Amino acid sequence: MPSTKKIDATAKLYYQQNLPNHMVTAVIVLDNQLNIQYANPATEALLVKSLNKLRNQSLQHVFFNSPISSIRLKQLLTSGQEFSDSDVVLEFFDKRIITVELTASSFSLDNAPFILLEIKQIDQQKQISEEAFQHQQWESARDLIRGLAHEIKNPLGGLRGAAQLLNKEITPEQQEYTAMIIEQADRLTNLVDRLLGPNQLPNFNSQNIHLILEKVAQLISFNNPNNIKIIKDYDPSLPDINFDADKIQQALLNIVSNAIQVIGESGVVRLKTRAASNKTINGRRIKLAAQISIIDNGPGIPSKIQDTLFYPMVSGRSNGTGLGLAISQTLINQHKGKISCISRPGHTEFIILLPISEDKTP
Ligand SMILES: Nc1ncnc2c1ncn2[C@@H]1O[C@H](COP(=O)(O)OP(=O)(O)O)[C@@H](O)[C@H]1O
Ligand SMILES: [Mg+2]
Repeated sequence: MPSTKKIDATAKLYYQQNLPNHMVTAVIVLDNQLNIQYANPATEALLVKSLNKLRNQSLQHVFFNSPISSIRLKQLLTSGQEFSDSDVVLEFFDKRIITVELTASSFSLDNAPFILLEIKQIDQQKQISEEAFQHQQWESARDLIRGLAHEIKNPLGGLRGAAQLLNKEITPEQQEYTAMIIEQADRLTNLVDRLLGPNQLPNFNSQNIHLILEKVAQLISFNNPNNIKIIKDYDPSLPDINFDADKIQQALLNIVSNAIQVIGESGVVRLKTRAASNKTINGRRIKLAAQISIIDNGPGIPSKIQDTLFYPMVSGRSNGTGLGLAISQTLINQHKGKISCISRPGHTEFIILLPISEDKTP
C-alpha cells in the first residue's frame, strides 16, 4: 500500500501543475507589457482562442472596447495594489457581451513582475437575482396599486350614485353638472378597473399557440397604417399548451401593438416560437416550455424606462397609459409563465415562456 505521505506529495504536485485546467474561472497571466503569457482552458473557452493564438497578444486586443484599464494594470505592476471589480461588462469582437467579476493581482517570477487576472462570469447568477428582485418589485407595486385602486373605487361608486339621485331633483340646465360628475366618475372607474388588472381566473384549455399568434397577426393587419411586415417563424413541432386563449391573445396583442406603434415604414415584426428546455421561472425548474418571442427592428425601449417597463403607468409615449405591458405581465403570471425583454436600437425582443412540464426531481 502506498504511503499517505507519497499520495500527499503526488496530489500536491498535481494540484500545483493542473488545478488551473479544471477551474471555471478564467485565469490569465500578463507580462509587464500587458501581453498574455498564459491562459487556462476556461480562458480559451471564453475567448474562443487557443493559448497558442493568445500568447503574446495584447490584452487590449482580445476585447472590443476593453473596460480593463491599462493604466490601472500598469499601476498594479508598480504599486502592487491589487483590485477587484464586479459587474464588469466585457464585449467581444464577435458581438458577445458578458458580465464578469474581475480580480487583478501581481506576482513576480525570476524578479520579473507579472499580473494575474481572474475573470468569473456572473451573467447567470445576476440574471436570476435580478429576476427575483424584479418579481418582488412587481408584486409590491401591484399590491400598492390594488390597495389604492380599491380605496378610490368605493367612494367613486357613492359619488356616482349621489349624482344620479341629484339628477332627478334639479333643472335640465343644472343636470349638465351632474352629467359631468357621472361622466368623470365613469372615466375614473374605467381607469381604476384597468389598474386592478384582469380579475377573472383563466379558463385553461389545451390548444395550439400558433392559432393565437395567427389571430394576433390578423388583428394587427386590420390596423397597420405603416404597412409593417409581420414575419412568422413558428416551430410546428411545439406541443399543445394549457392556456386561456383570450388572455394570452390579449397579452401578445399588447406587445405587438407597442412594436407597431414605434416602428416606422420599413419595420419588421417577427413572431417566433420555439421549445425551450431547462428554464427557471420564478424559482421553479421547468423541463419544457413554449418560448414565444416578439421581435422588432424599431428604435428600442427608451433607456429611462427599461428598468420599470412592466410597471403600470410607465409609458414612453405622450399619449400612453402605460398599462399594456403591466396587463400582459399579469396575464402571463396567471399562467405561471414569465415575460422578459431585451432591447437595443434595431432589436427589441419580448420573450414569453409558458411552462409545458415542470421538473419535479429534487
Ligand atoms: N417594442 C417596443 N419598442 C420600443 N419601445 C417600446 C416597445 N414596447 C414598449 N415600449 C415602450 O414601453 C412603454 C410602455 O408600454 P405599455 O405598457 O404598453 O404602455 P403604453 O403603450 O400605453 O405606453 C411604451 O410607451 C414604449 O415607450
Ligand atoms: Mg401599449
